[in-house]
Amino acid sequence: MTAPKALVAGNWKMNGLLASREEIKKLNFLVAQGGAGCDVLICPPATLISTLMGKGIDIGAQDCHMALSGAHTGDISAAMLKDLGCHYVIVGHSERRADHGETNDMVKAKASSAQGQGLTAIICVGETDGEREKGATLDVVTSQVTGSIPAEATAENTVIAYEPVWAIGTGKVPTTDDVAEVHGVIRSLLTDRFGPAGATVRIQYGGSVKASNAAELMSVPNVNGALVGGASLKAEDFYGIIKTYQD
Ligand code: PGA
Repeated sequence: MTAPKALVAGNWKMNGLLASREEIKKLNFLVAQGGAGCDVLICPPATLISTLMGKGIDIGAQDCHMALSGAHTGDISAAMLKDLGCHYVIVGHSERRADHGETNDMVKAKASSAQGQGLTAIICVGETDGEREKGATLDVVTSQVTGSIPAEATAENTVIAYEPVWAIGTGKVPTTDDVAEVHGVIRSLLTDRFGPAGATVRIQYGGSVKASNAAELMSVPNVNGALVGGASLKAEDFYGIIKTYQD
């Protein structure tokens, strides 16, 4: 089976105002001019989804609630994201696992809700620095992957993002050997789970990806794109990462 088409996704986190429409226009222009050898996605804050939708770049979300509607003040459901035209939603980002106490079971329920609405869930996993120092990286990632993929998931509606927590927003990145080891383990978990179709599930790397290190990281076996925070906020920086798929 051939390697899946890469997905380079920008996670804007809690950044962006209406003026960010300009950044999406610029990104759209750069992709239209220079092309993209990968799928491109931006996940802005929920407040911007509808205003950024329809400008050429695929727009996704950063989180969804596990229920489709109801008394959950401040939350947004997968049905609402589908209604806006989203195809993707990030679930289980380490900042949500840490800030909102999201467990694997909660992440699984969110992914299930998203997939039930026809969205693709980008399920985030990754160890903390303490877990890496203890040599627990593979155990942590294994339990997050197996514990966060819902029973009804398919190879088509699942993306895994491996994001070492200590690499997020720090400028630190794992060695390519370390990335290869973790992505290899995730690939075998996916083939255990989905059979041969597990080879087609995209496994993104995330954590301090920028234009200057993207080519090296994206060439690691079983790395099928990137989940990018800081370097996705400016169109030129983000396009620098997208472009590595054309070189
Ligand atoms: P970063 O964030 O690229 O700023 O390290 C990545 C992420 O949290 O998805």
